[in-house]
Amino acid sequence: MKPFSLYRDAVRAKEIVTVLMRHGFGSLLDQINIPASWFDRFAPRREDPHTPWTRIRMVLEDLGPTFIKIGQILTTRPDILPPALIDELKSLRDQVRPEPFESISRTLKNAFGDELEKVFSSIEPEPIGSGSIAQVHLARLRSTGETVAIKIQRPDIKPALTSDLEIIGWLARELHERVDTYRPYNLPAVVDTLRKGLLSELDFEQEARNATLFNARNPHPEKVFAPSVYKEISSRSVLVTEHVDGISPDEIDAPSDIRRSLVEYGGASVFHQMFSVGFFHADPHPGNILITPDHRICFLDWGMAGQLTKRMRHDLADLLAAVASSDVERIARRAIKMMDSNRMVDEQQLEMEITQVLDRYGGELNLDDAGSVILDLIFVFGSNGIDVARDYVLLAKAVLSLEKTGDALDPTFSIVSTATPFLTALTKERWAPESLFRNLVWKLEESLSCLNALPADSLRLIRRIENEDIGIRLHHRGLEDLNRTFNRSANRLVLAIIIGALIMGSSMVITTGVQPLLWGFPALGILGYLISMVFGFWIIVDIFRSGGHR
Ligand SMILES: Nc1ncnc2c1ncn2[C@@H]1O[C@H](COP(=O)(O)OP(=O)(O)O)[C@@H](O)[C@H]1O
Ligand SMILES: [Mg+2]
Repeated sequence: MKPFSLYRDAVRAKEIVTVLMRHGFGSLLDQINIPASWFDRFAPRREDPHTPWTRIRMVLEDLGPTFIKIGQILTTRPDILPPALIDELKSLRDQVRPEPFESISRTLKNAFGDELEKVFSSIEPEPIGSGSIAQVHLARLRSTGETVAIKIQRPDIKPALTSDLEIIGWLARELHERVDTYRPYNLPAVVDTLRKGLLSELDFEQEARNATLFNARNPHPEKVFAPSVYKEISSRSVLVTEHVDGISPDEIDAPSDIRRSLVEYGGASVFHQMFSVGFFHADPHPGNILITPDHRICFLDWGMAGQLTKRMRHDLADLLAAVASSDVERIARRAIKMMDSNRMVDEQQLEMEITQVLDRYGGELNLDDAGSVILDLIFVFGSNGIDVARDYVLLAKAVLSLEKTGDALDPTFSIVSTATPFLTALTKERWAPESLFRNLVWKLEESLSCLNALPADSLRLIRRIENEDIGIRLHHRGLEDLNRTFNRSANRLVLAIIIGALIMGSSMVITTGVQPLLWGFPALGILGYLISMVFGFWIIVDIFRSGGHR
């Protein structure tokens, strides 16, 4: 099968194959069905002395922006990727050359057309920041004279990304089908989630919504904030925000008491977002934070945000409590309860691997390792078939990013003592009577919606049986019980009919005045009534005794 017809895809595929060979993945490529035209006859095929994880990182760096971005997104998948690879990916250098202004202004022209000159009176050609997807330029608004920051997507980033993802998807499918060692990682599914993540980062309207939502729910705007968005002049590929005058926590030069208070309220804001609001910045690393001259903290870059519903936060509180008490069984039970799917999990294996993680941290948990412990546990959950919701993974990642920022500002910073009050509040809320009641309502709601779906599901099943001639294999175990139930029901029915007949017969006899009489009525009729009363009473008692369902 020839995977791609487009000439451009084939050229890019050749580039990718060449880089893979250069980093010692030649023997891997031999195992899959690479079209001959993808091999460059002159490309060197080298054996590389580095570990496979380092080589993967080098391949990504050589292949440029899309791949670097993919590597960075992969660091948010500790549920499926080994920790050693994640560590390597974290050190990916974001060395992306800024796009020349003439080329980046193509995006601006596309977005604004003739309006461009009317909206901005000037745009600095030199970017103040550049990443793999976009770069940021300073500009001035013609209407008000305000200085703004414009985040502009690189031109052609979307087709380049789509083409790269197509090639990667093809490689992933080939590897999945042909090489046994890769099968457990389910590479095609990984590429699928990558595609979704990358495409969502291409939508700056989402980023604008996230920043605005944060500002709307922020209880301390005098201490922390997100740049306000100029919504009317922003679009999917161009984001215009207020320019924030500030410096990165990495470069700040301030006395230690100021640094400490910055860490305190910055950290408190992140944990407030996570545990009280349930909507948080997923990557608060130093590159996405600015400290203003009056010591306010600005969270930039809302491309990735996590969302935890109240129920997810309560589940998380339970899990963290179990982790804090190193109770392996409880951790496993909680994890299984939190999972999305109903795949079978080997609980014994899961518990064994959880124990190994806890042992790695020395039995007694040093709570400052919280972020890493949770990430390692998430890998154990993921590799044991538990679908960990993406937002829990984002949470663990955000904690690690926050640790980095905290360290840059104040090395004595303890993430756990900052988080503790918020976790305590969450735990209190979780066990408050209203929450327990709400839990009960959730359960009821769930059962009702199950019941609601039952008729439709059954109908669908019946249709499938009709249309597709599905065979059902029956085991006889338990059929004796059914048989007994049938007999019993039939006996009851017969008895009920006899009682009915007796009552009718007795009623007729009673009206005739036939001898002998008892209390002035024919004794035969009275006897009939008495017998039917006894039997009727007996049936009723029997029905009640068996709970009415047998
Ligand atoms: N509103 C702003 N004010 C000042 N500087 C900004 C602003 N937005 C972005 N920057 C600068 O541009 C850099 C990249 O912006 P960011 O939104 O983080 O893009 P990316 O998604 O490429 O990481 C930031 O690290 C910061 O230095
Ligand atoms: Mg950034």
